[in-house]
Amino acid sequence: MNVGIIGSGTMGSGIAQVAATAGCQVKLYDTNQAALDKAKVALEKILNRLIEKGRIDAGEKARIQSNISYVDTLKDLSDSNLTIEAIIENLDIKKKVFSELESYVADDCIIASNTSSLSIASIAASLLKPERCIGIHFFNPAPLMKLVEVIPAIQTSKEVLDKSVQIISDWKKTVAVAKDTPGFIVNRVARPFYGEALRIYEEGIADFTTIDWSLKTIGGFRMGPFELMDFIGNDVNYTVTETVFTAFYFDSRYKPAFTQKRFAEAGYLGRKSGKGYYDYSENATKPSPIEDEVLAEKIFNRVLVMLINEAADALFLNIASAQDIDNAMTKGVNYPKGLLAWADEKGIDWCVSELDALYNEYHEDRYRCSPLLRKMNREHKTFF
Ligand SMILES: NC(=O)c1ccc[n+]([C@@H]2O[C@H](COP(=O)([O-])OP(=O)(O)OC[C@H]3O[C@@H](n4cnc5c(N)ncnc54)[C@H](O)[C@@H]3O)[C@@H](O)[C@H]2O)c1
Repeated sequence: MNVGIIGSGTMGSGIAQVAATAGCQVKLYDTNQAALDKAKVALEKILNRLIEKGRIDAGEKARIQSNISYVDTLKDLSDSNLTIEAIIENLDIKKKVFSELESYVADDCIIASNTSSLSIASIAASLLKPERCIGIHFFNPAPLMKLVEVIPAIQTSKEVLDKSVQIISDWKKTVAVAKDTPGFIVNRVARPFYGEALRIYEEGIADFTTIDWSLKTIGGFRMGPFELMDFIGNDVNYTVTETVFTAFYFDSRYKPAFTQKRFAEAGYLGRKSGKGYYDYSENATKPSPIEDEVLAEKIFNRVLVMLINEAADALFLNIASAQDIDNAMTKGVNYPKGLLAWADEKGIDWCVSELDALYNEYHEDRYRCSPLLRKMNREHKTFF
């Protein structure tokens, strides 16, 4: 199969590696020659590391490399069966590229976008045959993260959806099909991990280290929310939150936090700037958490129940199936358990009473319990 990738940055080069490893003939296109050169050098390094780790041999490395060619005109992608676009997150630029691309490729070529925040419907509208357009959303780093969200727009044909799911499954990825709504699954459902942690900090309940310690020790998360925000970058993470908040017509559940805004404004971006919620300079010592199990349990429960509420509401609004929502969080962001399975384990009655307790305490709409949880509780149902 011939696959054209548009944009050879972080995501495009990773997606190219995935497709080439699966045996596809890949053409990686970028307007910037330096970006193409960088992608080629980066792939060489990655494959050498995989050889050192014993994951692949020299023959496999040569095979993967020979499956990728680096091209500098869009027309070179004309023989593609599938194209995946991973350029700058700008609707007008994407639309221009899509419309030009459509004039070169065959009628049955699937034209996909890796966008994180734009609607697939708006991108598809740039095509003469919008039914061939779909969202195929990889996670960073694409070769390592198992999850790919596949997002049909309202214009997408069933055939294009089925074919896309098949291709991505053949690439050995876990597919979660999501409705074309802000944040799709992961970037929507994960918001309380950051937002509720920031709120707990802002209320003075605990410091960054103690909140992180609680989520890791009691919850089994690999990274605490503040460590993760520092890893992602406070500028990037804040922008995603603000975009989702705006896209949901300012639903207070997604409201960004001033704390994070100030950190971003101050240039305390996290690891990449050497300072965020933590200090990453060479001799810095990490502050110790207050290892109070009762406090930690309270913090963990509050973040968890807000995550569960978000996952339940995504199911309630038919954003994805229960299984896809759980796969999305375990395979896209490495959560220790699927949130809906976690809800079953904790008990739906527990979820409802925790959420109602928060709502009664604050009388804020962000703590409203999903109607689905309430209905399930009445009917004594579980998610699985
Ligand atoms: N970085 C992430 O974690 C992540 C995760 C999932 C999805 N995405 C989405 O993937 C897309 C790309 O993100 P990225 O982080 O790889 O960006 P990036 O900045 O690393 O790479 C973008 C590349 O596109 C090239 N480019 C820009 N305009 C172009 C054009 N008109 N034609 C061809 N090439 C062009 C640039 O030269 C650059 O090499 C965005 O839509 C983003 O929302 C990013």
